[in-house]
Amino acid sequence: MRQVFLNCGSIAHMQNSLDEYVPSIENNIYSSGKAIIVNSSIVESITDSTEAEEEFSGSNEVQLVDVQGRSIIPGLIDTHTHLLWAGDRTQEIRYRLEGKTYAEIEQMGGGITLTTSLTRSATREELIEAGYVRLRTALSHGTTHIEAKSGYGLNAETELKILECGNILSNLNQLPSIEQTWLGAHSFPKECTKEEYMDDLLSNQLPKIVDQGFAQSADVFCEPGWFSVEQSEDILRQSRKLGLDLRMHIDEFEDSGGADLAAELHVNTADHAYFTPDDLRLRMKESGVNTGCLPGAPFVLGQQMHDYSRLIKEEIPFTLATDFNPNCQFLSLPLIGAFAVQRSGLHPLMALKCMTTQAAQISNLDSQHSQGTIQEGRSATFNILNSPHWESWCQTPGHSPIHSTQLEGKYIVH
Ligand code: NIG
Ligand code: FE
Repeated sequence: MRQVFLNCGSIAHMQNSLDEYVPSIENNIYSSGKAIIVNSSIVESITDSTEAEEEFSGSNEVQLVDVQGRSIIPGLIDTHTHLLWAGDRTQEIRYRLEGKTYAEIEQMGGGITLTTSLTRSATREELIEAGYVRLRTALSHGTTHIEAKSGYGLNAETELKILECGNILSNLNQLPSIEQTWLGAHSFPKECTKEEYMDDLLSNQLPKIVDQGFAQSADVFCEPGWFSVEQSEDILRQSRKLGLDLRMHIDEFEDSGGADLAAELHVNTADHAYFTPDDLRLRMKESGVNTGCLPGAPFVLGQQMHDYSRLIKEEIPFTLATDFNPNCQFLSLPLIGAFAVQRSGLHPLMALKCMTTQAAQISNLDSQHSQGTIQEGRSATFNILNSPHWESWCQTPGHSPIHSTQLEGKYIVH
């Protein structure tokens, strides 16, 4: 059945946003007065609204939606989340305010260690229920595709369990589509030595994960105190050999050489990259590595917000994502956009590119899910805002700017 969205406000279609480093308004925004015609979850055409109204009003064959002048943006893509885990670590804020660092809290038995033990004892039903609520929340803030990492199992049994739950969620309707990443190398579990765990990762977990077939990528937390550059290299090379795409966490707390490895291995994306020196940022760019900025992390860790000026000056491609995890519970990409635009001075169209077309570049989106733009012949996956202005997408911190979402053929009012 056809759907016709009449009386659109401005449409940030983003069709030409990869042609220019900073996308221009004239090439990526349609002014108000258009209609979007959808046929079998694909955009059939974007046309004049008055003409579409004449053609379709009164027809029983189409679902007519009067957008009432609201602006429209593409579905948002969250390229970095730790979606599935159990427990609650919100009390850790007190330890940080008392002067403990993230690493010290982990050594005290908090951090990833604590979430791991709670996730190991959680049932599949509990993980799926928690994941469902998180995905519905993300959708109500405009997320239509999400990357979800494992990493709170730290043994084969629980890493497989997390990915199995993610796969069940990926088959439910009216949720963002999901791609999964194996992050067994998120931390070292307490019950064995580091050498034993490295051996378990390479000879036990990884082959089982590949066999299971639910993860498309592998990721490593490459940071002093967690996985060294050498250990990260071993895991990433072996993962690639077995057919997984590569991602990395680098330089969240200090510059430790992870960016060099990211460039050498041409990984898909190197995320955080907060303390990465400028010359290595350029090396990553030359090697085709995306820089994944995660403003939620400095926000919760009490650090300065990112400075994007150097990235912009050198035209370094980057994405913006939530990094949703027990220590950083952001599920709203528009709030991440508010940090980038209202606190760090990023242009709102550039920030939108970082969550749409640039995000699509590093995502496993099959052709049916081809997202990132609002464009004839591509997936009809878009968000209708509460405002006539496309710029509003990142300017309602504390509440969602999204009125409704068209998700693969389904129109969902939030
Ligand atoms: O990306 N830094 C490593 N992993 C997460 C945090 C995980 C946690 O604290 O549970 C991150 O920030
Ligand atoms: Fe992360």
